[in-house]
Amino acid sequence: MNTALITGITGQDGSYLSEFLLAKGYDVHGIIRRSSVDYRERIAHLEGRPNFHLHYADMSDSMSLVKLVGKVQPTEIYNLAAQSHVQVSFDSPEFTADVDAVGVLRILEAVRTNHLEKTCKIYQASTSELYGKVEEVPQSETTPFHPYSPYAVAKLYGYWIIKEYREAYNMFCCSGILFNHESERRGETFVTRKITLAAARIAQGKQEKLYLGNLSSLRDWGYAKDYVECMWLILQQDKPEDFVIATGVQHSVREFAYHAFKAAGIELKFEGEGINEKGICVNGPANLVGKTLVEVSEDFYRPTDVVNLLGDPTKARQTLGWNPNKTTFEQLVAIMVKHDMEKVAAEHVASVMRTNLAEYLEKGVVK
Ligand code: NAP
Ligand code: GDD
Repeated sequence: MNTALITGITGQDGSYLSEFLLAKGYDVHGIIRRSSVDYRERIAHLEGRPNFHLHYADMSDSMSLVKLVGKVQPTEIYNLAAQSHVQVSFDSPEFTADVDAVGVLRILEAVRTNHLEKTCKIYQASTSELYGKVEEVPQSETTPFHPYSPYAVAKLYGYWIIKEYREAYNMFCCSGILFNHESERRGETFVTRKITLAAARIAQGKQEKLYLGNLSSLRDWGYAKDYVECMWLILQQDKPEDFVIATGVQHSVREFAYHAFKAAGIELKFEGEGINEKGICVNGPANLVGKTLVEVSEDFYRPTDVVNLLGDPTKARQTLGWNPNKTTFEQLVAIMVKHDMEKVAAEHVASVMRTNLAEYLEKGVVK
C-alpha cells in the first residue's frame, strides 16, 4: 500500500488531496497543529476512517518532523503546509520565512535522517507568486522569477532547496508551480471567497457593502479540486521535474466580483477609478438597485502587489496528460456562489432556530 504524508492537511488543498488519495487506496497521514478550537472543518468528514491518520507536529519543529517521518515511513510526502496569505506575510515575515522556507528544508532533512531518500518522493507546493513583478506574460517553467512579497521570497527558497536536494542527493523531489486555485473551501480572507461570501450575504440582506483593494489585479484562477490531481501526477512520473499548473485564462478581481454578484442575482456596474471606484447595483432586488455595494479601501492594498499572473500549462497538458480547463472560470464562480448562498441561508435558519429555542425554553415550552 502507498503511504502518503500530507503537511497542511487541514487546508483547502490538503482536504481535497486527502479525498483524492483515499479514493486511490492510499494510507493517508496528516500533520495537525494544536489549536484552542479543535474542530477541523475541511477534514471533519474524513476523521475516523481506517486509512486516515492525524499526528501532531509543526513545520517549525524539526524534532517533531523527524520523529513523524520515521514513524509513518511515507512513500510520498506532499508538503502543503504554509503561512499562505501574501498580505499577512508583510505583517509576519519571520514566521512566514520559518514555515514556508526553512520548513521545506526540515522536511527534506527529516527524509534523509530516516534514510528514506531512495524510497520517498516529495511534492513541494510552489507558487506563481515566484514570478511576482512579472518579467513575461504568460509565465512558464522557463520564466525568470522576481518574488514580490515576503511570502514569495520564502517560497523561492523552498523552490531552490528542492532543486538542490534533487541534484545533490538524487532525491525524487519536485515543485508544482501552482497558479491561484479556489473552491468552496477557500479561506475566507482570500479575494475570491471574500467576494462570494459577501455577494451571498448582501443578496440575503446580511451585509451592506463589500470593501476590496486592487480591483485591476489579474489572476489565472482554477478549481482546487482539479489541481490536487496534478500534485499526484507529478510524483507518478519517471523522473522528477517541476511543472506550471494553471488554466491559461486570466480575469481581474473586478470581473470576478461582477460574475459572483451576477450569480447571486445582482448586476453591478463599476464606475470611477482607483480608490474612488465603486460597484453599483443596476439590476436585482428592488431594495438594492442604485445602491453602492462595492467600494475600494486602502486597507487591502499591499506594499508591493503582483498584478499580472497568467500561466502557460502546456508542459502539464503534454507531459502529465492533465486538462487545465476541466472547470471553467464561470463554473468555478457558480460553484462557490451556490455554496455560499446555501451557507448564508443555513446560518440564518440556525440563528432563527436558536432564537426560537431560547424563547421556548424561557416560556417552558421546551425543557
Ligand atoms: P491553506 O488553506 O492556507 O492551508 C495551509 C495549511 O498549512 C493549513 O493546513 C495550516 O494549518 C498549515 N500550516 C500553516 N502553518 C503551519 C505550521 N507551522 N505547521 C504545520 N502546519 C502549518 O493553503 P492552501 O490554499 O491549501 O495551499 C496549500 C499550499 O499551496 C500552501 O503551501 C500554499 O502556499 C500553496 N499554494 C497555494 C495556492 C492557492 O491558490 N491556493 C497557489 C500556489 C501555492 P492550520 O489549519 O492549523 O492553520
Ligand atoms: N486577499 C485580498 N483581499 N486580496 C485582494 C483584495 C482583498 O480585499 N482586494 C484586491 N485583492 C487582490 C490582491 O491585491 C491580489 O492582487 C489579488 O486580489 C489576489 O489576492 P489573494 O486572493 O489574497 O491571493 P494571492 O494571489 O495574493 O495569493 C494566493 O495565490 C498564490 C498563488 O499565486 C495564495 O493562495 C497564495 O498562497 C498563493 O501562492
